[in-house]
Amino acid sequence: MSNERLAEAGISVDIDGVVATLTLDRPEVRNAQHPRMWAAMADVLESLDASVRIVVVRGAGGTFSAGLDLALLDPAKRAEEGSLVATLSKSDQEIIDTIGEYQRPFALLSDPRFISIAVVEGHAIGAGFQLALCCDLRIVAEDARLCMKEPALGLVPDLVGTKPLVEAVGYARALEICATARFVTGVEAGELGIAQTVVPAADLEAALTASIGALTAHSQGAVQGTKALLQQAPLRTLDEQRLAERTAQVARFRELAVAFGLA
Ligand code: ACO
Repeated sequence: MSNERLAEAGISVDIDGVVATLTLDRPEVRNAQHPRMWAAMADVLESLDASVRIVVVRGAGGTFSAGLDLALLDPAKRAEEGSLVATLSKSDQEIIDTIGEYQRPFALLSDPRFISIAVVEGHAIGAGFQLALCCDLRIVAEDARLCMKEPALGLVPDLVGTKPLVEAVGYARALEICATARFVTGVEAGELGIAQTVVPAADLEAALTASIGALTAHSQGAVQGTKALLQQAPLRTLDEQRLAERTAQVARFRELAVAFGLA
């Protein structure tokens, strides 16, 4: 995708070896999100080279994302592309299909091909919090502020964030966080298991570099296969998971045989 189209969509993409960094790049509106941005993000994620092992998602200008662009909720701007107000008059099925399209990049972040890492500083609100939740891992600044704002605006979180939130903190805490639309600090996010790494904002880059080094230290195929197994584990019975483990191991054995010069 051309840099021009990415800029129009409000994102920038940098590929450095096995690491792709996707930056929400609208700092003047705190990286507020827009359907144009989601479409471009989905295209970028779908077209990543197979050699990419890590996808970093972050925001420009010292904040992650202030969530949905509030202009989309402004009745005076209903003629603008992506207006949510214009969507209100569509049929139920059209609304469902439209949101399904918006959800694409959020769902793609859990693709077993790579490990996605959200680097969260400043604010992660609404769609911003959901975007961070859709990544496999979160490195969060101690003073970051995360908030599932949707219920406060009369909405439900619909950008793939509810399942990872429940998986991270359990149903009761997820309900409390969402229904109150309160702020969760970076420190609390660490205590709750939302963030895997919590550091002072000044140390985010060092923490990211260390994480990338550790996450790419071992065989790409083994890590991809393990990620797929772990993702599916809660959905399977023990016997089904045992079968999946030994089936996945066949590909690993084949690769080892080549490495040992036996194939
Ligand atoms: N959409 C559009 N513009 C935004 C958004 C947004 N979500 N958030 C901030 N901006 C704009 C502001 O209007 C302001 O523009 P201006 O300079 O032209 O006045 C600029 O970004 C800076 O915003 P400030 O509020 O001055 O920045 P501050 O750092 O003090 O606060 C914060 C940041 C806390 C994120 C605040 O801007 C905020 O609460 N934004 C709204 C968050 C929100 O309700 N998002 C929707 C959630 S629901 C969903 O995502 C589905």
